[in-house]
Amino acid sequence: MLDQSEFIGKTVFVAGGTSGINLGIAKAFAAAGARVAVFSRSAERVDSALASLRALGGEAMGFTGDVRELSSVQDALSRTHEAWGSIDVLCSGAAGNFVAPAAVMSSNGFKSVMDIDLLGSFHVLRAAYPFLTKPGASIINISAPQASIATPLQAHVCAAKAGVDMLTRVLAMEWGPEGIRVNSIVPGPIDGTEGMARLTPTAEAREAVIRNLPLRRYGDLNSVAKVAVMLSSSVCDYVTGVVLPVDGGASLAGPGLFGPSA
Ligand code: NAP
Ligand code: COA
Repeated sequence: MLDQSEFIGKTVFVAGGTSGINLGIAKAFAAAGARVAVFSRSAERVDSALASLRALGGEAMGFTGDVRELSSVQDALSRTHEAWGSIDVLCSGAAGNFVAPAAVMSSNGFKSVMDIDLLGSFHVLRAAYPFLTKPGASIINISAPQASIATPLQAHVCAAKAGVDMLTRVLAMEWGPEGIRVNSIVPGPIDGTEGMARLTPTAEAREAVIRNLPLRRYGDLNSVAKVAVMLSSSVCDYVTGVVLPVDGGASLAGPGLFGPSA
């Protein structure tokens, strides 16, 4: 049975943890008594995330930086380690998205999403490796349905997130012998997020997504956050290398789930 008290005093680092789904995850660990560090580009977002984390009663730290720059990620992780000791839970969820046809997408547009989502995930995991609790650390990569569902106007995200899921599988194999578990969570459409605002900007697009979803409703921030906590807990201590949809059945619905069409 899940006993959230196992997270009291544990160290959690959430890359991209200052808004939306990732902040929801950071808050769930803070509510369970963990010390939580968040990292993202905008100082305002970092400050406001820190205020909401501290309001939950625990210790929190925030760092500004860009996952595309290895040195800024390394600096934040080593400062977290210095302050709180080894990192028990690492969540990598920084990402970017926009809707654009491949035929007119610029090289830099494709590259910016590859660099944030895929290279950025590698930076976060690689930089955290020396500081992870061994054995016992849980790594959670935040993937997306585009990793396995070919989605028009999302060539950059499909390519990047497919790479993220392979990183999950490969590092689960490389780091498993040291007792580090590596899993992906694949959120489906989550209400009130920047991601869904970009993919389904109109009420009609939102309704079309809901019609295709087996559970006929969007998820909320807590739908993902509670699975991140469970996956990092001793309940799941024999689970690694898994790519886990938390998506109301979206992965069964196939291509075209996300409103935009070519
Ligand atoms: P969001 O609110 O825009 O969250 C993105 C976070 O990443 C922000 O905290 C952002 O903060 C940070 N970030 C972006 N680029 C960064 C960079 N280069 N370096 C460091 N931090 C960076 O988006 P969301 O919709 O909640 O999505 C969160 C995650 O869930 C993403 O991995 C996304 O692919 C995945 N996902 C979302 C949905 C959905 O329904 N929304 C569905 C499937 C998967 P700054 O701007 O301050 O950097
Ligand atoms: N359509 C086509 N190309 C676009 C675009 C759009 N809507 N938005 C950005 N691009 C292109 C830019 O034109 C630029 O290419 P260029 O130099 O050839 O003109 C390239 O992408 C980089 O844009 P820039 O704004 O400099 O990138 P950035 O690094 O500051 O931001 C983004 C990265 C584009 C992903 C930005 O949307 C972002 O920061 N997103 C984070 C929040 C988010 O997307 N949340 C949802 C997560 S699922």
